[in-house]
Amino acid sequence: MSENHALEAFWMPFTANRQFKATPRLLSSASGMYYRSDDGRQVLDGTAGLWCCNAGHAHPRIVEAVQKQVATLDFAPTFQMGHPAVFELAERLAAIAPNPLNHVFFTNSGSESVDTALKIAIAYHRIRGEGQRTRLIGREKGYHGVGFGGISVGGMVNNRKMFGPLLPGVDHLRHTLDIPRNAFSRGLPRHGLELVEDLERLVQLHDASTIAAVIVEPIACSGGVVMPPDGYLKRLREICNKHGILLIFDEVITGFGRVGGAFAAQRFGVTPDLITTAKGLTSGTVPMGAVLVAGYIHEAFMHGPQGAIELFHGYTYSGHPLACAAALAALDVYAEENLFEKAITLGEYWENALHSLKGLPNVIDIRNFGLIGAIELAPRDNAPGARGYEVFTRCFHDLDLMVRCSGDVIALSPPLVVEKEHIDRIAQTLAQAIAKTT
Ligand SMILES: Cc1ncc(COP(=O)(O)O)c(C=O)c1O
Repeated sequence: MSENHALEAFWMPFTANRQFKATPRLLSSASGMYYRSDDGRQVLDGTAGLWCCNAGHAHPRIVEAVQKQVATLDFAPTFQMGHPAVFELAERLAAIAPNPLNHVFFTNSGSESVDTALKIAIAYHRIRGEGQRTRLIGREKGYHGVGFGGISVGGMVNNRKMFGPLLPGVDHLRHTLDIPRNAFSRGLPRHGLELVEDLERLVQLHDASTIAAVIVEPIACSGGVVMPPDGYLKRLREICNKHGILLIFDEVITGFGRVGGAFAAQRFGVTPDLITTAKGLTSGTVPMGAVLVAGYIHEAFMHGPQGAIELFHGYTYSGHPLACAAALAALDVYAEENLFEKAITLGEYWENALHSLKGLPNVIDIRNFGLIGAIELAPRDNAPGARGYEVFTRCFHDLDLMVRCSGDVIALSPPLVVEKEHIDRIAQTLAQAIAKTT
């Protein structure tokens, strides 16, 4: 792959293609906490791939399960058919989901999970005789994937501005990033709870009877790792209850142990009506997403003639056997290695390591919760994002550490098999990279 023309055909997603192809970063294998680059370096994974490889890379248990499955049952439809693993997986997910989210609709990605959840929410109201509840509320800086539903409720400008008017009838809460008041908060920030009252304001504007659902990420990760102010999610739930609005937590990143517990809903003690998941569901090994649905929502659809399809929605690969095998094995690994507790047992160590970077040049904020972290750098004059990109590339090319940059925010989310020595190395390497960046 040294000839750069060999890189031409692949139109890379969310990538500066020409810049990348001039200086490629290629990964050729992975194991545990490390990638191996195509030039033979061991690169410490500070981002669990793309927030997804929670069990670490190439976990033998997951590898074996997928290999066995492909040789046994490569594909089986789930439209009017089924196979055992998909039912078993749904039961296992219902068992770890917060009560009463005890039904599961399978998808192939986070984006599909989001579109599925939004559709279920609107259809649910219609089926109950409130078909006028079609409005969806998202939040600024929210990321809900790249489907038209997801970018409509999402709040990242670059993901929205090129694609026309998007879904009609969508509104947004303000985001909760407030560096002047909350910089260097450890865990959840103290200031900003009042922002949740935006939902009351939108209810006054549109009337509750028109609003189907609110969707938020418990922690807005891709939009810059924005934490909910203390008490925000609880209050959001209260306002939704008061007005009969469904609450959707997009847990594509926060699910499967990232913040401690199976889901952030449990860690924060707030139960939504639907949860969207993907990524850590299979520890990133096989594409799969799932929407966890409250029993009362599912029940609302289970009427009418026995022979009637209750929801005209699904994907060819909903509940694909390989993905099911990977997810079942990942759930085994999470349980056997106590990985859902890791973000709690290592949380303080992680927090201290990250906050040790306070005081380095250009560091204007550090945020953390569970095994998520962010270091925000001051943008360069007339070149927002340049400083973050420089730290990211220096870490990868010179210091053998993979981090993510989202503008000038360095985002971190190591595999949950991370140990203290890896955390030390992540912090030390970042300190070096940031200190060198002008
Ligand atoms: C909160 C959230 N929702 C949805 C998605 C979209 O997931 P996918 O890229 O699998 O479609 C992501 C991806 O990062 C995400 O973080």
